[in-house]
Amino acid sequence: MANRMESAISQNCDFDYFDVWKATIEERTGVQITPDRERALSLLLNRRMQELDCQDIDQYMSDALNATKGAEEWSGLVDSLLVKETSFFRHQPSMDYVQSWVNKAIKCSSFSGPLWIWSLGCSTGEEAYSLAITVEQAMKAAGLEPHYGIIGTDISREAIFQARRGIYRESKMAMVDKATKSTYFDQVGSGLWRVKTELRRRVCFLTSNILNDGSPLIRRKMHLIYCQNMLVYFRRWKRREIINQLASHLDDQGSLILGLGELSNWLPSGFTRATQRNIQAYIRDETVEQGEAR
Ligand SMILES: C[S@@+](CC[C@H](N)C(=O)[O-])C[C@H]1O[C@@H](n2cnc3c(N)ncnc32)[C@H](O)[C@@H]1O
Repeated sequence: MANRMESAISQNCDFDYFDVWKATIEERTGVQITPDRERALSLLLNRRMQELDCQDIDQYMSDALNATKGAEEWSGLVDSLLVKETSFFRHQPSMDYVQSWVNKAIKCSSFSGPLWIWSLGCSTGEEAYSLAITVEQAMKAAGLEPHYGIIGTDISREAIFQARRGIYRESKMAMVDKATKSTYFDQVGSGLWRVKTELRRRVCFLTSNILNDGSPLIRRKMHLIYCQNMLVYFRRWKRREIINQLASHLDDQGSLILGLGELSNWLPSGFTRATQRNIQAYIRDETVEQGEAR
């Protein structure tokens, strides 16, 4: 506690104010400011006040937290604060599972497409494009015209801006093999690659906060929902609440694919869990007795 107070005070940030900031960030984004993130928050607030030449923390706080007047400042703070680390094919076993799920779905006699996929907390887009490549490859291998749409959502405006541009450094593409790179990317500079237009057209990116979840696009039933490395920053009860919310967006036989550390002991009635131990994926099965998600 003393350290937290010292650091807050040394950054010209009063302790009580600091707690209000932390609580507001969690209330509005779901993301907890854990002790190891406090210094980053403290430095960020201090820097912004200096940049704005604002000496009055009362004033800065009431402006930045004002829903309309502070929207721009708030969005910038959120952008700077959230962890947005990602890369292509970050968790290959989960992508392998997506591929096998798609293979099974398209072999089903009732399949008419399109498949709808939601990448939630997609950051700068690598995850959504990896899903697009995986689905596209599976459909092409089965001799089908690609028939799918992907929605990538993230609370960060800056991340969604980059996702829409679809330009990536080589360092983010270590898991993209040579053939995939030349099929789905154009080299646009030294060590810079852009996702080809046809693939970009398949993926729609939206700035959206899962705590509001108000986008009309998300109101449709999804076949796959992929949510990894986002909920780990939320409290456990909040993770459970959001996972239940995601489950309600799934079509029958649709699958929810979480990161391994996201939540254990979640299995509401009406769902089965994939048996592979290196992934955490669930299938909605309306033939299994339905019940309230716990
Ligand atoms: C570490 S990144 C994970 C990116 C990608 N899913 C992956 O696994 O590589 C977490 C992302 O969750 C986003 N995020 C955090 N809180 C959010 C919220 N309330 N609604 C939507 N996105 C959120 C962050 O902006 C960040 O881009």
